[in-house]
Amino acid sequence: MNLSIEYTNEITPNNNNIVIFVSNLSQLKNIDFLPNLNNYIKDKEFLIKLNSNKYVLISNIQIKKKITNIFIVLLKFKPNNSIEIGALLNKKFNQLKENKCIFIFSKILLNNKKIVSDLIFGFSLHSYTFNKYIKSQSNKRFKLFLYNLKEFKDLKYNLNLLKSINFTKDLISEPANIINPITYSEKCIELKKIGLKVKILNKEQLEKIGMRSILGVAQGSIIEPRVVIFEWNLKKKVKPTVLVGKGVTFDSGGISLKPAGGMEDMITDMSGSAVVVGSMINAALNKSSKSLLGVIGLVENMPDGNAQRPGDIVKSLSGKTIEVLNTDAEGRLVLADLLTYIQNKYKPQHIIDFATLTGAIMIALGVHRAGLFSNNNNLSKKLELSGEISGEKLWRMPLSSEYDNEINSLRADMKNIGSTRYGGAIQAAQFIQRFIKNDTSWAHIDIAGVSWSHKGGNNSFSKLHSPGATAFGVRLIDQFLKG
Ligand code: BES
Ligand code: ZN
Ligand code: ZN
Repeated sequence: MNLSIEYTNEITPNNNNIVIFVSNLSQLKNIDFLPNLNNYIKDKEFLIKLNSNKYVLISNIQIKKKITNIFIVLLKFKPNNSIEIGALLNKKFNQLKENKCIFIFSKILLNNKKIVSDLIFGFSLHSYTFNKYIKSQSNKRFKLFLYNLKEFKDLKYNLNLLKSINFTKDLISEPANIINPITYSEKCIELKKIGLKVKILNKEQLEKIGMRSILGVAQGSIIEPRVVIFEWNLKKKVKPTVLVGKGVTFDSGGISLKPAGGMEDMITDMSGSAVVVGSMINAALNKSSKSLLGVIGLVENMPDGNAQRPGDIVKSLSGKTIEVLNTDAEGRLVLADLLTYIQNKYKPQHIIDFATLTGAIMIALGVHRAGLFSNNNNLSKKLELSGEISGEKLWRMPLSSEYDNEINSLRADMKNIGSTRYGGAIQAAQFIQRFIKNDTSWAHIDIAGVSWSHKGGNNSFSKLHSPGATAFGVRLIDQFLKG
């Protein structure tokens, strides 16, 4: 994180940048919350500009001899995109060289705690960049002062959510030589300190349980696999919501090796798991009243001498056998055993899995929406609505026996790729569904197209996030649980 936030009751030109948020119902003339600021302002031109009907107005005035800039941000009475406005402001600030800034809100705005919290949230959300390995930038921190803003509940909530999102972004952004199944699971254990129950299954335990589908993927790496289980607020009589995540810390494709160009993107192939971790952190920090279970499968998909071969047949934990025809379709092999494990062990209210599962979902939906597959209309509707509200949008895709038949195998209960490459995202979802018991309500979210926002902003998430990991899913689940 490059941003730190402090509360203050003092306005001085040393803050470098002063941002005054006013609603179009307020007039700067009678703003009485700026005790000494008027003395600094020489040029009162901007008072006129304030009357403009522009949605967001940013003016920039030099006051006295200091290099303080004053920005006036004029908001509609009740903006519905405060998060975006905050993010936009951060984008502007990234171009300035000063690294301190104070936010001042007019009284009318202060009455609307949600708007204030969302503006700060948007500003902070966009400030995240992953630059810890760049020496010249690593010391550049941005300091945000909040004037006369006693920590209020909405803001506290949002800042906890921000922490969770940034944790997710860190996990996704770290290269695969730093984050592997072992180091990843060690980071998970540390989360005990925020009140989560965390349990790790190591390779021996996975063997004992019989998760051979996961073990098959891990076989080609010298780094052992791990499965991590998080619990929040589990109760005897309450069925938990279960979040499941694909955590392939690097996907080389295995023996079905991927082409060299762009292979580096596959450090993000654990995004689904990182979304689960972020959501669990959010639940713990914000003391969610919901019962939540998170399960992630951590493996590295590599092509060494012991690697799984195309043509291998593995027996999954469910007892069903899988003909592995393409070792690059590994995500579904990881999810299969996780899904069986949690249905055997817990009684889920519903299961939601997140995975960067297929390139095909990007062909189908592009990079603006994630693919939603589900056996339950109610759950789907709730998730779709949460997507619209949070801006992490979903599009429901079909599931049916025609697609399911495409993964029938002559040599095993199923094969891990379809007979044709058409509808690849659906075939993958059908594969996963084979590990869902009939009465279990389940949704699968394919985030391959949305977990990363490239430079230049190729997807809608670049409005809120700097280029890089988007943590798509954490805000969706936050909204889903808030209901
Ligand atoms: N991790 C990839 C999917 C992916 C592609 C994620 C692009 C993010 C961006 C997955 O494991 C994979 O390789 N899937 C194959 C499946 C195919 C072999 C049936 C794919 O999509 O090509
Ligand atoms: Zn793959
Ligand atoms: Zn993968």
